[in-house]
Amino acid sequence: MSSAITPYRIQHEPQLLGQTVVVIGGSAGIGLETARRATAEGAKLILTGRSPEHLQRAASEVDALSTAAFDAADSAQLAQFFRDLPTPVDHIMVTAGRPYYGRLIDLDFAQARRALEELFSLFIEVALHAADKVKAGGTLIFMGGTGARRPAMGLGILSTVTAALPALTANLALELAPVRVNLIAAGFVDTQLSASLLGDELENRRSQLRAKLPIRRVVQPADVAALAVHIMANTALTGATYDVDGGQQFVAA
Ligand SMILES: NC(=O)c1ccc[n+]([C@@H]2O[C@H](COP(=O)([O-])OP(=O)(O)OC[C@H]3O[C@@H](n4cnc5c(N)ncnc54)[C@H](OP(=O)(O)O)[C@@H]3O)[C@@H](O)[C@H]2O)c1
Repeated sequence: MSSAITPYRIQHEPQLLGQTVVVIGGSAGIGLETARRATAEGAKLILTGRSPEHLQRAASEVDALSTAAFDAADSAQLAQFFRDLPTPVDHIMVTAGRPYYGRLIDLDFAQARRALEELFSLFIEVALHAADKVKAGGTLIFMGGTGARRPAMGLGILSTVTAALPALTANLALELAPVRVNLIAAGFVDTQLSASLLGDELENRRSQLRAKLPIRRVVQPADVAALAVHIMANTALTGATYDVDGGQQFVAA
């Protein structure tokens, strides 16, 4: 018997051929990387973001079907965007928004309610609008995190939202079926958002993560994008939370 090893040659049809993917927050970071990957898998992209310049640059890179520049935290503009969506779409990913850090005890009630509302309402509003805009078998994908699973000073609001999002996702998966609903929970991802939050500490943080994370490297937007596209393509997945944090939640990093 020959001991020669036949190399696997894995060739597959593009996984999202002919599908339409909306990325709310698609002009940078995880959203743009997902748009790139979905395009490579044959999808057509509709991108949103606040800055028209960033959006235009991203749109020409992925040859997007269309773009819409608006603040996704503005309910009226979000509703208008969904009214204007031309046809049913296959998938919607929500990467707009940013985390809230600060002690709950330092806020007055109105501020605390606003902070909680801001983090939740985008997901709920997108779900309400998406109910009759996403094709059966398509998915909504929300972005959450693993970093605030462990209570810590300044994480009161973010921890609460982090704990609630998997429950919201699972319930919406039942209510919106046969549209699927899934949640990606990331740890540190090396994006512009992380750079802006860390400032001069960015390089230290990267070194610390390389040393401490079980994967011994920093998680990149492409890691999250690969997961997002898999969730879009795999029609068995709904109601679940997928961690992509390189094991960060298991080490004090
Ligand atoms: N990076 C991480 O370590 C990490 C970890 C866990 C979870 N997450 C979450 O993952 C999501 C994406 O993070 P990222 O690091 O990719 O962020 P990013 O690099 O800042 O990209 C965010 C994208 O969303 C758009 N955007 C932000 N706020 C918006 C709004 N109110 N309305 C419309 N578009 C908006 C941005 O464009 P404009 O600024 O032009 O609007 C940009 O295209 C965020 O929700 C973040 O909280 C990130």
